Amino acid sequence: AAKYRPFPPIRLTDRTWPDQVISKPPIWMSTDLRDGNQSLIEPMNPERKLRFFEMLVKIGLKEIEVAFPSASQTDFDFVRKLIDEKRIPDDVTIEVLTQSREDLIRRTVESAVGAKRAIVHLYNAVSPSFRRIVFGMSREEVKQIAVAGTRLIKELTSAHPETEWVFQYSPETFSMAELDVAKEVCDAVSEEWQPTPERKMIINLPATVECASPNVYADQIEWMHRNIARRDSILISVHPHNDRGTGVAAAELAVMAGADRVEGCLFGNGERTGNVDLVTLALNLYTQGVNPGLDFSDIDAVRKCVEECNQLPVHPRHPYVGDLVFTAFSGSHQDAIKKGFAQQQPDGIWEVPYLPIDPADVGRSYDAVIRVNSQSGKGGMSYLLEQEYGFKLPRRLQIELSRAIQRITDATGKEVGAGDIYDIFRSEYLDR
Ligand code: KIV
Ligand code: ZN
Repeated sequence: AAKYRPFPPIRLTDRTWPDQVISKPPIWMSTDLRDGNQSLIEPMNPERKLRFFEMLVKIGLKEIEVAFPSASQTDFDFVRKLIDEKRIPDDVTIEVLTQSREDLIRRTVESAVGAKRAIVHLYNAVSPSFRRIVFGMSREEVKQIAVAGTRLIKELTSAHPETEWVFQYSPETFSMAELDVAKEVCDAVSEEWQPTPERKMIINLPATVECASPNVYADQIEWMHRNIARRDSILISVHPHNDRGTGVAAAELAVMAGADRVEGCLFGNGERTGNVDLVTLALNLYTQGVNPGLDFSDIDAVRKCVEECNQLPVHPRHPYVGDLVFTAFSGSHQDAIKKGFAQQQPDGIWEVPYLPIDPADVGRSYDAVIRVNSQSGKGGMSYLLEQEYGFKLPRRLQIELSRAIQRITDATGKEVGAGDIYDIFRSEYLDR
């Protein structure tokens, strides 16, 4: 039991979380082509990356981290390809990641020269265990590394005024760091960059590894939101990972606690257990009446593209998109859903039991909603017969037919479709 330390609590005396709900979407940043890509068994080739990039643009992402250009020639070439072949729409900003080392920074800036607008994203780890175990560095040394990287990026980018440069700094391992250290490093970086309210810089506060419950991450974000210097010139960004399975909750609470921006991946790809899932976040907003500004009206097309590019399947129970998430097998659920469909609300408010979202809003049909197996009662099979064949069976017949179907589904353990139900109906009643 003593092997893992409990996370130290943060005491806020005057809690003033701005909201209990999120009333406007954060700025979204997709890191599918960077954090997502670097976690794949086989990283994307340029064709897959380009296809993914174009799909991200199509659904409305305006900030896309496209590469870690100093890490591989493929990544460097991909950024050049986007710029040289003019593949980046005017309203889309690309982002490139770098560690704080002179040669890596030079290569990173070089990759993005000529873009209309580009975010250069500098990071170094700041938490005590990384300082001690990985780098053998003091707090002061960690701060100096961040400041030196910032200074060099400022110098190199100012030589290319044709690009609108935005600077982003991430104190990597923020969620495991002392807050005063994180603030000290971020303040020193912003002092060096000198952002203004008109030309803000981004301070991204990554979980890196999710190591506490989501309210703790939100408290850390709120503390930074209240205490960071030059707040009016800084966009606070969050970068949750999902190691405890609470990445979405962490992002939502962090936005309520003051974050302006969220970095994540579609369907939660990313290092280890993934980055926060941008699809779930966006559709959670949508189902509470907030337009997320991202278009998932054909979610199956988005899923197909992501599955093919990442070469990873999306789970059948994944929120909003999994094959089974709009399906009810159980009789009581089917009955409630049928009643909900029959009584659509006059004010247009969606109120169908067991369905938090209208499947049609994400391009799903109703066909898959009601499916019949041994768990289903008479409601499901009579619904399918009526929908597909126009038969409205009397109640007594529904009960009889349902028993016949249940005998079969119990014996086979399998699902039956509308066609099977019709065949059973025929053999029991029509062909006799
Ligand atoms: O998770 C992380 O800390 C990162 C940084 C590079 C932002 O991906
Ligand atoms: Zn990450």
